[in-house]
Amino acid sequence: MKGIILAGGSGTRLFPLTISVSKQLLPVYDKPMIYYPLSILMLAGIRDILIITTPKDQLAFTELLGDGSRFGCCFDYAIQENPNGLAEAFIIGESFIGQDSVCLILGDNIFYGGGLQKILMNSVKAVKEENKAVVFGSYVQDPFRYGVVEFNKEHTVINIEEKPEKPKSNYAVVGLYFYPNSVIEIAKKVKPSKRGELEITSVNKEYLLNQELMVEILSRGFAWLDTGTHEALMEANEFVKALERRTGLKIGCLEEIAFNYGWINKKEVSSNIQGYKGDYYCYIRDKVLIDVS
Ligand code: TTP
Repeated sequence: MKGIILAGGSGTRLFPLTISVSKQLLPVYDKPMIYYPLSILMLAGIRDILIITTPKDQLAFTELLGDGSRFGCCFDYAIQENPNGLAEAFIIGESFIGQDSVCLILGDNIFYGGGLQKILMNSVKAVKEENKAVVFGSYVQDPFRYGVVEFNKEHTVINIEEKPEKPKSNYAVVGLYFYPNSVIEIAKKVKPSKRGELEITSVNKEYLLNQELMVEILSRGFAWLDTGTHEALMEANEFVKALERRTGLKIGCLEEIAFNYGWINKKEVSSNIQGYKGDYYCYIRDKVLIDVS
């Protein structure tokens, strides 16, 4: 399975922070925001990853992440000229995806919770073995900002509405989506919505109509943070800080994941981070290079 991180957009709600800096490069406590979605793809076992950015930000992302070999991965880069909507990721990424299945994650979404790795692995399996699309619903207090899941009395999903004025439930579809290869053709047929975007909800509705959509509900112990507003960004910072300080373990440490998955060895980790200072790299030296128990 291939992975795509959509890290374009305009970030207008964060202006002036994001006038000259991409939202997905802003810090979330001790690392750039994009590390978090990247870590989710890696935890899902995905190593071939396309990073889609705006034209003006691409250089900064390549400087930060390179070709991915530092993390035992292979990164490609592509440009989205304008924020035409999430579904455009599959059109831009068509040749990168090739004949494979694909997981899309939004560059400003952070996930944290027990059993995450298993949920990710099961989703990859459902796509590969059952040819299903897998999306996730999370209970939120402001569902009107997202794609919202509608259930019938039997708790079966019967519809998904994009940013409804009157949401039919509190379950929002989160920015993490697993699809079979058919998503490319489906995305190509999507027409721009009233707000002029190729909506991912249109893609999901197509799979729902064909009875090929699995909507997994994330339990309430699960954190899904989006970092699109000043308040949300501050909360994400506090959340990561509190967890990391309490446990002494890092969320979204890419070198640690790559090492744990056997994608890079100790020697490679050591030489990749040589000369780098700061807490993040001290952690890698302490946890990965010394304490591997
Ligand atoms: P949004 O938060 O909906 O949009 P935005 O980032 O442009 O911010 P704002 O609303 O403040 O102007 O986007 C969600 C994520 O998807 C974010 O990581 C940006 C990304 N995105 C793209 O890369 N391309 C797009 O066409 C859209 C709509 C979003």
